[in-house]
Amino acid sequence: MPKTELSHRAQNTPPSPIRKLAPLAIKAKKAGIHVYKLNIGQPDIESPEEYFEGLRLFDEKVIAYEESQGNERLCRAWSKYINRTLRIDTRPEQFIITVGASEALVFTFMTCCDPGDEIIVFDPTYANYLGFAAIAGIDLAPVLCDMEENFSLPERSRIADKITDRTRAILVCSPNNPTGTVCSKEELRLLFDLCEEHNLFLIVDETYREFVYDDFEPFSILNLEPNSERVIVIDSLSKRFSLCGARVGCLISSNEEVLASALKIAQARLAAPTMSQFASAYMLENIKDDFLQGVVNEFRVRRDALYAALKEIPGVIVQKPQGAFYTVVQFPVADADKFAAYMLDKFSYDGKTTFIAPAAGFYMQDSSQGLPQARVAYVLNKNDIEEAIGVLAAGLQSYSGK
Ligand SMILES: Cc1ncc(COP(=O)(O)O)c(C=O)c1O
Repeated sequence: MPKTELSHRAQNTPPSPIRKLAPLAIKAKKAGIHVYKLNIGQPDIESPEEYFEGLRLFDEKVIAYEESQGNERLCRAWSKYINRTLRIDTRPEQFIITVGASEALVFTFMTCCDPGDEIIVFDPTYANYLGFAAIAGIDLAPVLCDMEENFSLPERSRIADKITDRTRAILVCSPNNPTGTVCSKEELRLLFDLCEEHNLFLIVDETYREFVYDDFEPFSILNLEPNSERVIVIDSLSKRFSLCGARVGCLISSNEEVLASALKIAQARLAAPTMSQFASAYMLENIKDDFLQGVVNEFRVRRDALYAALKEIPGVIVQKPQGAFYTVVQFPVADADKFAAYMLDKFSYDGKTTFIAPAAGFYMQDSSQGLPQARVAYVLNKNDIEEAIGVLAAGLQSYSGK
């Protein structure tokens, strides 16, 4: 019997570049080597006590389906949280609660695009956008950002050149994963104006909104365009409250049609998890602003430690990230994929090694751009980061693939 074929969609969905080398890390761990995990955006900060308190307060006898749009109290609490922190005026009805920002992105792609349509993104890009696009059957059209310019947005004409009659939206992530770059107000304005001119949606992934350093203040596209029907904000509790496993995100829009259509998709998947939404609502109602201030301060310290340690390594090129908790680093190696594998498979220093995510998988247009680069996530405490980069420097010295 011939083999039963799988869908092209399944075959074309790329594996995560972040998790690709995980089996080697597991092997190293089994061999008793301590692995510093700088490959994945999993913060080590303790989740807020208010979330656990919310879980304990849940006292229903049946864990029933939640409303497809999301727990009403959570929509209200999230709207209030955003209004307080950004000094704007959203309404709970503008929110659809999803299983993380991930599901919000899939809903948004499916709502805005038909199969074969295109969304413009910026390269290097958050690799899971490729997976979401494959699920939705759409194409991503990447515009390359330059490492020498700290991955800031390319000039308007280069973005405009990518617009075709199949383009439905521009998607920008700020603060950015994987580059740590933050869009200025002027850059967001430029993107919005382009969308106005070409009648496109502007999707802004604000998963890391509060993670900004130096002179940046948390800023949303909703500060610029609070009522525009072409703006869709993607948000998440995962990173800012160290709640990656709670799986709570949302999409926010002023566009009634977008909300009604996304809701139909949300209805088809029934609902996001009931208890997690209950606990998230309780947490947002009760958490103090100093939780997040403390978290952001901690990440600033880590960013400074990482940047200083990387700058010391001969041949390494790194820009100071302005936000989120990642940066893309160029190493003096021919292929960072091979170097990352070497670190896990062949190298240890004092029983320790460091796990970084090769950057080629974050580049869509031309993965050779990212060949000597890797994404480094500063999700460990300052001491561990310094140790991890020390181990990385020792690994580079002994590595022959330069
Ligand atoms: C830019 C960006 N968007 C979305 C997500 C998905 O987050 P969530 O855990 O809310 O699904 C991530 C997770 O790493 C991310 O980095």
